[in-house]
Amino acid sequence: MAQQGSMGFLATFSLCVLLIAGESHGALAYIPKDAASEPLADGICASSVTVRGYKCHELQVTTKDGYILSLQRIPEGRTEGRDHNATKKQPVIIQHGVLVDGMTWLLNPPEQSLPFILADNGFDVWISNTRGTRYSRQHISLDPSSPDFWNWSWDELVSYDLPAVFDYVFSQTGQKINYVGHSQGTLIALASFTEGNLVNQLRSAALLSPIAYLSHMSTALGVLAAKSFVGEITTLFGLAEFNPRGLPVAALVKSLCVYPGVDCYDLLTALTGKNCCLNSSTVDLFLKNEPQPTSTKNMVHLAQAVRHGVLAKFNYERPDYNIMHYGEAFPPIYNLSNIPHNVPLFVSYGGRDALSDVVDVGSLLDALKLHDVDKLSVQFIKDYAHADYVMAFNARDLVYNEVLAFFKRHFDT
Ligand SMILES: *[C@@H]1O[C@H](CO)[C@@H](O)[C@H](O)[C@H]1NC(C)=O
Ligand SMILES: *[C@@H]1O[C@H](CO)[C@@H](O)[C@H](O)[C@H]1NC(C)=O
Ligand SMILES: *[C@@H]1O[C@H](CO)[C@@H](O)[C@H](O)[C@H]1NC(C)=O
Ligand SMILES: *[C@@H]1O[C@H](CO)[C@@H](O)[C@H](O)[C@H]1NC(C)=O
Repeated sequence: MAQQGSMGFLATFSLCVLLIAGESHGALAYIPKDAASEPLADGICASSVTVRGYKCHELQVTTKDGYILSLQRIPEGRTEGRDHNATKKQPVIIQHGVLVDGMTWLLNPPEQSLPFILADNGFDVWISNTRGTRYSRQHISLDPSSPDFWNWSWDELVSYDLPAVFDYVFSQTGQKINYVGHSQGTLIALASFTEGNLVNQLRSAALLSPIAYLSHMSTALGVLAAKSFVGEITTLFGLAEFNPRGLPVAALVKSLCVYPGVDCYDLLTALTGKNCCLNSSTVDLFLKNEPQPTSTKNMVHLAQAVRHGVLAKFNYERPDYNIMHYGEAFPPIYNLSNIPHNVPLFVSYGGRDALSDVVDVGSLLDALKLHDVDKLSVQFIKDYAHADYVMAFNARDLVYNEVLAFFKRHFDT
């Protein structure tokens, strides 16, 4: 497979990518207005939450670098009615992964979807939406059509998005926060914790399909894509939006799909691994609503984690540029051993997850080996792959009940 690609293969491949990228330059202007990145007039609350009989508030949070993020609050469960205890409820922030948005948590019936399950169990639920996704495409001065709007990677999600959402929820509730992250949502939380950020406002964190190390990622399409995100691509795509439904990215994906070992007949599987437990009606809904855009720079930064095998800030791939940004020839590392040892963490990972590979999770757990034993819970689910954690019809029984039990264990810590 591509992982052991020879120089010849890489050269051919780079050429092919260069051609696509070059060809797509003009096409960038003609990206069709596709359904998935256009906001629905009525927003996530109206389309997916209130129709199920839950209260829901559409909110906005502005980051220190000017992005206006959308946030949905489900303050209580469906059956509670007038609840005089509302202010005592514990808040939970739910943070999705890369190339999706908060809607991804709401595609199953309420009894199977994490936000509703948490609300019905007495939590005050806050769903966040990362910059660049359908409902978080506003900025105090920049427009998404401008390259400057896309000049960020997950470093900025660590420095700006997460702190903005945490500060807001903390100020509104006055309560320490429980956190659930999936995929990139685990990466940005772990990176924040290594710098001692958020932990003062945090009660506990559940990390589903954790990614911190990515060098064993085995999804064929992912590996190919990561290999293709070398310097040339950045230069050619520039600071563009990475819109999976736009023409340039679609052409890139199509070109990758002809490589041996990459079966794009089932794109979700090609990207995330063999999910055991997705209902086909949920997958249809998923494909109507996702994938969502991110920045090319973010994809490059994720690809760097695949290639370099370390968790570090964005690498400008040139010592002089790195020195300009960081004062050092290499980007600073997010050192996982620096996560305070008493932060309650729940880690759940799947045996078939092609993005959050078992070997890479092993490296993460190794980095956490000095964590207080009573503050770290680890769950392994043999048959689960990446998307099962968000959308499986049996995730409540296998995962979410464990998350609830974990949160309850740490209510008083
Ligand atoms: C308020 O919450 C406490 C603790 O969760 C519970 O024991 C109590 O019954 C609640 N009171 C009302 C009026 O719901
Ligand atoms: C992107 O942002 C960085 C700071 O994070 C800045 O140094 C750089 O000049 C910006 N790039 C462009 C092309 O505006
Ligand atoms: C799958 O979805 C269909 C249609 O929504 C539903 O009737 C069926 O019960 C679902 N299966 C499971 C296991 O949830
Ligand atoms: C991370 O921190 C630990 C403890 O402070 C140190 O021993 C280790 O060398 C650091 N790792 C890296 C990659 O810098």
